Amino acid sequence: MRPELSSQRLWASVEALALHTEPDRPYTRRAFSPAFASGRAWLGEQFRAAGLATRIDQGGNLIGRREGTQPGKPLVIGSHSDTVSHGGRFDGIAGVLAALEVANALSDSQTRLRHPLEVIDFLAEEPTDFGISCVGSRAMAGELGAGMLNATDRDRRTLSQCLAEVGGDPAGIKHAFRGANSVAASLELHIEQGPILESAGKSVGVVTAIAGIRRLTVDVTGRADHAGTTPLHMRKDALLAAADLIPRIDMLARSIAVHDPAFVATVGRLDVIPNNSNVVPGRCTFTVDIRSRHDNLVEEFAAMVAQAIPRDTNAGMTTTVGVASSSPATMCDARVRSAILDTCAELGISHMELPSGAGHDTTYMARLGPAGMIFIPCKEGRSHAPEEFATPAQLAAGGVVLLHTLLRLDSILD
Ligand code: HGY
Ligand code: MN
Ligand code: MN
Repeated sequence: MRPELSSQRLWASVEALALHTEPDRPYTRRAFSPAFASGRAWLGEQFRAAGLATRIDQGGNLIGRREGTQPGKPLVIGSHSDTVSHGGRFDGIAGVLAALEVANALSDSQTRLRHPLEVIDFLAEEPTDFGISCVGSRAMAGELGAGMLNATDRDRRTLSQCLAEVGGDPAGIKHAFRGANSVAASLELHIEQGPILESAGKSVGVVTAIAGIRRLTVDVTGRADHAGTTPLHMRKDALLAAADLIPRIDMLARSIAVHDPAFVATVGRLDVIPNNSNVVPGRCTFTVDIRSRHDNLVEEFAAMVAQAIPRDTNAGMTTTVGVASSSPATMCDARVRSAILDTCAELGISHMELPSGAGHDTTYMARLGPAGMIFIPCKEGRSHAPEEFATPAQLAAGGVVLLHTLLRLDSILD
């Protein structure tokens, strides 16, 4: 009996997981939050019901495993179930639930692959309050170092503490490391989070490369003062200084984007300390999220930003620029891309190749073996917002391509 995907069951799982959100800000399931914990508990039940032996590895990844007919390196499918604040129901989630549905289809048809199969919900793909993204997949690639584990959030919690709370093992983090060539192949289904597939009328995107991402933290230190009694000329207002820097950073980014329209830089997070209406801001920090498929442009821009920001301003304020995280652009594996292309052609599913401007866990899975991504369209290319949407048919088409590409890779890879 050939394994068949159930579009109804897949869509029902999307609706069920969407219920695990902060009620007042749908859809919010931030890593390490109570909503994330309840979503994870639900996923674990679903993984077990699909015949997967489940565990949480030292990096906090939820891993469902099914042995193959022969021992060896696993085939890995999955994505992430955490969201940005007030985000969507598909970013990451589509990939985890499509992978779960593939496991269900294999189980229902009693199809056992040659390779072991691992279905993974990677921990904390979205940038956390510690400034670090892809926590679980980074750990698998051996790149979650002590500096990151000791990073603190606004409540002075460490990433290490939060990792332990979700079942990870910070002290044994090195055991999460899988090593190069430890995975037969990995496949991640994901919404495109952009408008290209929808405007081209294609059902599937075969990802060629994933943009490199560097995140800078800019920290401006002025002096907190009474807002009612401190004359304007005597102030060291850190927010005003930051507000002057941000448009200059944007202008520098636009000068680079002339060479590569896909080059982007974003100031998406700004913290004012102490953030009280009657206090002159004593400190202000903000992040600069830089993306490009060309690593040299990221380097060039980061250097321009560092140069453009005076360490000491004439008002006696100091500004520092740090690197919170940095990952190079990643090429998807040619064999995996061919397997996805051949599967789409064989199934008669419209498709095209395209790069990813978004970051993904696949960036780190590519360090462990041949890696590829399957994109599905999303409505008006919107993502990281509650309006994020893909239809049941779009999700099912991507799921069918995921299933049959997996079967193809299982037969061609040793
Ligand atoms: O930010 C990203 O690119 C991804 O959606 N986390
Ligand atoms: Mn994502
Ligand atoms: Mn995202």
